[in-house]
Amino acid sequence: MEKIAVGMLGFGTVGAGVAQLLEEHKQELQHQVGADVFLKKALVRDLEKPRTGQVNLREDQLTLEADEVLGDPEIHTVIEVMGSVDQARKYITQALQEGKSVVTANKDLMALHGAELLKIAADNHCDLFYEASVAGGIPVLRGLTEGLASDRITKMMGIVNGTTNYVLTKMSQDDRPYQEVLLEAQELGFAESDPTADVEGLDAARKVAILANLGFSMNVELSDVTVEGITSITTDDLAYCRQMGYTLKLIGLAERKHGKVELAVQPMMLPNDHPLSSVQNEYNAVYIYGEAVGETMFYGPGAGALPTATAVVSDLVTSVRNMRLGVSGQHVGEPLNEKHIKPDSE
Ligand code: NAP
Ligand code: HSE
Repeated sequence: MEKIAVGMLGFGTVGAGVAQLLEEHKQELQHQVGADVFLKKALVRDLEKPRTGQVNLREDQLTLEADEVLGDPEIHTVIEVMGSVDQARKYITQALQEGKSVVTANKDLMALHGAELLKIAADNHCDLFYEASVAGGIPVLRGLTEGLASDRITKMMGIVNGTTNYVLTKMSQDDRPYQEVLLEAQELGFAESDPTADVEGLDAARKVAILANLGFSMNVELSDVTVEGITSITTDDLAYCRQMGYTLKLIGLAERKHGKVELAVQPMMLPNDHPLSSVQNEYNAVYIYGEAVGETMFYGPGAGALPTATAVVSDLVTSVRNMRLGVSGQHVGEPLNEKHIKPDSE
């Protein structure tokens, strides 16, 4: 069977999940792509770091040299799961310019430089996929770009940060203090290494920007999203909401009306019977309204090693299939709409 080498930038929570899936689902993946996809090399910062509990890579599979991934002509797809913006942007650009397709889980990067990187990918006839950047294991980006490609989306409303949903759920249900639950979310691998972006709403804002770009075919920028996080929410606030028959959730909202778009992340009191109210712990859900389809909702685990790895490896499957079909880098056209962002005032 043909062998296809992939390289990875980063071997942390998500990277280890990817390695685990490549190993444990080998047979299924061979069936999906008709080839043996294997991890050749992973870039890390520290070769001595203990990596217990992770799939054991051979010593020669870990490297400190990015060029051993980016400059290896055998490597067809590069999986970027290291995080950061500048370094990841540089490496992804280099990979695409080397003619390699790229799969990334990096919402920080895609929210800021997605348009630029997608253009570089198209110019080099390579794929750039980023399903894992929004809502972890839920195939919501594919839902938008494929499942709902024929529709006109007018509203998206989502719980798109697993950490804050975990914190709010545990604070509310168990009456536990914010700091204690946040630490737990970090230990479980949901939170970013610096959880400030999670709790201040910025991580959700990045996902809202990505969703709006795809769902509305617009050139939305991160600065177009107004952001408020959960740092000032107390267990008393949550108890008050419960008494009133509401559930407090951090909601990412993208709505277009009369040619204007409203983009926001903010804590919202939802009636208990609202479908998003029952989304608990690190789970995410994205409610999407399309003019033709009406209401749809995508639900599932929004963070964590294996759920996120599922999205990454599914992108890898598409990337390898595209290569075998000779259709890599066939992207859809330019955004349809002029950028026109403003909270709706009508
Ligand atoms: P992580 O556990 O902190 O792992 C990061 C990995 O990248 C580590 O292996 C680290 O090396 C390596 N790395 C970081 N900077 C590097 C550099 N400059 N040079 C070489 N290697 C470097 O992060 P993660 O949780 O797996 O997240 C990875 C990406 O996925 C991020 O973009 C994150 O936002 C995104 N994401 C995460 C989740 C989740 O649930 N965790 C979900 C969706 C998306 P060492 O191991 O040597 O330190
Ligand atoms: N820190 C993010 C979250 C990881 O909690 O949702 C998934 O993007």
